[in-house]
Amino acid sequence: ANKKLLILPGDGIGPEVMGQVQQVINWMDKRRAVTFDVETGLVGGAAIDAEGSPLADATMEKASNADAVLLGAVGGPKWDELPFEQKPERGLLRLRKEMELYANLRPALVFDALVEASTLKPEVVKGLDIMIVRELTGGIYFGEPRGIEDLPDGQRRGINTQVYTTNEIRRVAAVAFELARKRGKRVTSCEKANVMESGVLWRQEVQKLHDESFQDVALSHMYADNAAMQLVRNPKQFDVIVTDNLFGDILSDEAAMLTGSLGMLPSASLGDPDKHGRRQALYEPVHGSAPDIAGQDLANPIASLLSFAMALRYTFDLAEDADLIEQAVQRVLAGGLRTADIMSPGAAKVSTVTMGQAILRQ
Ligand code: NAI
Ligand code: MG
Repeated sequence: ANKKLLILPGDGIGPEVMGQVQQVINWMDKRRAVTFDVETGLVGGAAIDAEGSPLADATMEKASNADAVLLGAVGGPKWDELPFEQKPERGLLRLRKEMELYANLRPALVFDALVEASTLKPEVVKGLDIMIVRELTGGIYFGEPRGIEDLPDGQRRGINTQVYTTNEIRRVAAVAFELARKRGKRVTSCEKANVMESGVLWRQEVQKLHDESFQDVALSHMYADNAAMQLVRNPKQFDVIVTDNLFGDILSDEAAMLTGSLGMLPSASLGDPDKHGRRQALYEPVHGSAPDIAGQDLANPIASLLSFAMALRYTFDLAEDADLIEQAVQRVLAGGLRTADIMSPGAAKVSTVTMGQAILRQ
């Protein structure tokens, strides 16, 4: 199958870190004969300046037709004064909405050399490799009715509604089960079925889908508050966690801090599969455009490189190549090279380009 990749570097440090991903793509082409059909495009402030909108229709169409989109980051002080509808972030929101990316994947992967950067004890996080799958387009952030009403007695009332349909639950659960098959073959589904009707439905539907189609994966259910505790008590008990939009927002930020720096965190967002079973996919670092360090060759390119590794593993089924990248990162960190954001005593401080080159050499 051909491998259509759309690269949208965006703003600030986006082009700097995506430049290092491009080097790895060139290397794979030459040395491993894995050829990508790469296009690049503009998103965010860069697109506003050159094309008059944060995501041109032509770029949107390329994104829809690509097997995977790799995004750097968008935004910056230059565009902060624009009205909401015209802001750089709208480009990213349009991509997520029109590609219908309902499953947000946030891995928490602890590299041996950075064990000391975790907020937890080394023995609790050493070797940690978990994946949180958060439902991204439904639930309480979008449910109707919503709003703030005036009450007759002069009080006001704020309303949000948690709503999930069977289809919304099943499609995100399917993503989690498929991922588990490529990983440790275990899924933990988190909700609050003890106090929420949507939680009862969530639990029933995830269990049904499991029994119908994913019996080779071990499924367990856990209340979300307990999961929050278990994540800091013994995170290595988990492989894949699947949960709703609200609980996923919180649990994925909590899990991120098990690993240390923002500059190390990749993510993916997946949508429906096409007729070949390949899902719509957007891969991006968790961090933003970091205007404070942009243009200075200081940014950590690892989050973007690991996002590309996720694309290799989950979109292109190139697990071996994904392993190569993750192992190269591991070795370079073990060798003592650090960008400023992950600097530790005794390590050697290097630039974006030097870090990228060192990883490529490994
Ligand atoms: P940020 O993630 O850009 O930066 C937060 C802090 O982390 C800064 O001190 C930055 O220097 C540091 N940092 C981030 N990535 C780093 C890397 N790869 N290497 C080394 N240090 C790194 O978040 P902030 O400052 O809240 O937002 C800056 C701009 O980015 C805003 O315009 C915001 O809207 C946008 N943003 C965009 C996102 C996206 O494109 N997905 C996500 C978050 C923010
Ligand atoms: Mg959050």
